[in-house]
Amino acid sequence: AIERTLSIIKPDAVAKNAIGDIIARFEKAGLKVVAAKMVHLSEEKAGGFYAEHKERPFFKDLVGFMTSGPVVVQVLEGEGAIAKNRDLMGATNPKEAAPGTIRADFAETIDANAVHGSDSPESAAREISYFFGNDEICPR
Ligand code: CMP
Repeated sequence: AIERTLSIIKPDAVAKNAIGDIIARFEKAGLKVVAAKMVHLSEEKAGGFYAEHKERPFFKDLVGFMTSGPVVVQVLEGEGAIAKNRDLMGATNPKEAAPGTIRADFAETIDANAVHGSDSPESAAREISYFFGNDEICPR
């Protein structure tokens, strides 16, 4: 089925000037960017996005990292977009990410791991509406 998923290019990858390289991987895999913006997240916005991790020991560092510089938030659309994006990203920990995946190629640590992608249809719906209004998404 055609799905939509939320992708975030995190501050480490933006700082490396890898925005274009990462988006090229999505496009080459057949995913379409149907919404995109660059934002410097506030603590409140980043904390709300990762609310499900609030009790985890890494929450504070995660919010600190995600607010350390601008990010690029996109909605990707395509056949099986959620799983396809997760395949392209590789494992959360770059040390465990398969060769050729975004995290293997652009990330060093589990905290600064280059990209985020929705992990289920439910989280995709929540995450997309957390960042984009319907009028900001451009079906094509
Ligand atoms: P992300 O997919 O954005 O979702 C939560 C983030 O928390 C994750 O990527 C990692 O960058 C970060 N994180 C740090 N430590 C851990 C951990 N032990 N398990 C999962 N995620 C972690």
